[in-house]
Amino acid sequence: MIGTDISHAVRILREGGIVGVPTETVYGLAAVGILEEAVLKIFEAKGRPHFDPLILHFDGIESARPYLREVPIWAQLLYQHFSPGPISFLLEKTALVPDLVTAGLPRVAIRFPDHAVLQDLLTQLQLPLAAPSANPFGYISPTTAEHVEAQLGSKIDYILDGGPCDIGVESTIIGEEEGQLIVYRKGGIPIEDITAIVGPVKVMERSSSNPVSPGLLLSHYAPRTPLRVLNEETFSNTNKGNFGYIIFGPALEEISMKDQYLLSPKRDIKEAAKNLFKCMREADAGGHDQIFIHRVPNHGLGPAINDRIQRALHSGDL
Ligand code: TXA
Ligand code: MG
Repeated sequence: MIGTDISHAVRILREGGIVGVPTETVYGLAAVGILEEAVLKIFEAKGRPHFDPLILHFDGIESARPYLREVPIWAQLLYQHFSPGPISFLLEKTALVPDLVTAGLPRVAIRFPDHAVLQDLLTQLQLPLAAPSANPFGYISPTTAEHVEAQLGSKIDYILDGGPCDIGVESTIIGEEEGQLIVYRKGGIPIEDITAIVGPVKVMERSSSNPVSPGLLLSHYAPRTPLRVLNEETFSNTNKGNFGYIIFGPALEEISMKDQYLLSPKRDIKEAAKNLFKCMREADAGGHDQIFIHRVPNHGLGPAINDRIQRALHSGDL
């Protein structure tokens, strides 16, 4: 059931239930992160393997401290600049964090969402919320309460509606290994904004077998309909048939409007990020034999968008 009753959501969570929650990036499927029975329900509802760890969400750094061995300087700096916001920090955990949350890894991912409804909920709850994106494992992340309802509605206790997500791609995940800062997932805070604060970082490229972030699987964002990159070559070779087109820029004149899904008619990358998963869902539901999608320029949120597109391409079709 979809609603806007934050206190109701808090009650369900305290009793060990799971709730769909809005964030500025994508909707999450939340449980109290220290209740293992509740966290297990997230894995069940999503069909997610237990080796894929979850992010803990807090209303501020003071609430997070008991769950962390320390907060290094780089994390403090990035926190000051970008939290609340779409950045997750991989930091050494204390014993308060169940192994189920981190898949047995020594570090926990934490973040401070920039969404008034979720902040209100976290402040009432005064407990960490474990929340992966609220999609079935391997499918496109949800950016509205209706997306969550459509796919997981029967499996979860309540969906808190906070409107469409502002950013539209998941948080940037950053951590440190042997003195080197590493971005494990490109996301809502652009790399260049991060390097402006903490200097150079190593950026992990997508991988189908990344041992540190096992959730970063190659096909993680796949629609059911085969997807291909749209460029001049693929367009001129294949522009006949029952195809859907996800377009960056104004609509294509030679294609019927009903087959087009516009990321951003004015070529605004932020707008494209916000519309990406919605366009993928709508195209996937459009009854097409194949979907074509434009890549976007590689700056700002561009690399995060192109990363999601790359992972949504069916393997062998790169
Ligand atoms: O924007 C976001 O981050 C959204 C919203 C709901 O907060 N959450 C999200 O969660 O995208 P999820 O579970 O769909 O993706 C989290 C990623 C996974 O790829 C997981 O493998 C990685 O973070 N991750 C989480 N905890 C980790 C840990 N302790 N060590 C390594 N990777 C971790
Ligand atoms: Mg996800």
